[in-house]
Amino acid sequence: MPRVPAYFDAFLAAIAQGAEIDHVHLGHWDEPEAVTPSRARAGFAEAQARLSERLVAMLDVGPTDRVLDVGSGFGGTLRALRRSHPTAALVGLNVDARQLAVSLRRDAAPMNATWIAADACRLPFAEAIFDRLLCVEAAFHFRSRLDFLTEARRVLRRGGVLVMSDILLTPPPDGLAALSDRLEADLGPWPAKWVSLAEIRRDAARAGFALTVHDATAHTGPSYHTIAPDERADRTGGAILRDLQRSGRLRYLYLRLAA
Ligand SMILES: C[S@@+](CC[C@H](N)C(=O)[O-])C[C@H]1O[C@@H](n2cnc3c(N)ncnc32)[C@H](O)[C@@H]1O
Repeated sequence: MPRVPAYFDAFLAAIAQGAEIDHVHLGHWDEPEAVTPSRARAGFAEAQARLSERLVAMLDVGPTDRVLDVGSGFGGTLRALRRSHPTAALVGLNVDARQLAVSLRRDAAPMNATWIAADACRLPFAEAIFDRLLCVEAAFHFRSRLDFLTEARRVLRRGGVLVMSDILLTPPPDGLAALSDRLEADLGPWPAKWVSLAEIRRDAARAGFALTVHDATAHTGPSYHTIAPDERADRTGGAILRDLQRSGRLRYLYLRLAA
């Protein structure tokens, strides 16, 4: 199995101490320019739920659809999907059995979803069995985006849809090796960090998808007041992402891929 991102150890420790963590991804604000740092921090969990809602809305789920969430974290997006789509069949897949155990524990009876431990690049399913696929802020961890997209296309029926969010980084003029090392240490595995939209478009086309891109970079910007507050001097992976975002070298994309 691929390596689990090390930063999940801290989230799991917090959950063991009683923290309620639904989502491990950035938040979405409709009017990001009006959000002060303190309001961004106070509203972060709500904004995370909003980002999930945005992606689910792009997915256009039908009442009896079979939906797979790849890299499902602690299951927050599927729990929200269950509330809005009580009759859909939901499957959460994660490389980390500990996260799946948390998702399972939080499932109300009757069970919200089926939880499966597997690698996103080797989906343990037959061809064309899903109507919809989700992948919220996880694909940059996978061994290869192209391998994941090829697998996603294989398990989606014709006419099915994959909706995902992804982070694309443009290399800065200097210090690339040090930045890459720190990103890898704090936020890895991140095999292909410096990727252009043209490469994403090429991978999507090769896998057999028609791609629509929504740029959510500005809408997710206030998240950095929580994950990397300005007043902290240490150069964490989060601070590197914050600085790349502020210098126009990070794009946060909502992607809709039609099979
Ligand atoms: C940033 S978190 C996002 C979690 C969840 N989608 C959310 O929005 O809260 C990335 C997730 O991808 C999972 N992941 C990383 N590599 C994976 C792989 N190769 N196959 C399946 N899941 C993977 C991690 O364990 C983690 O749950």
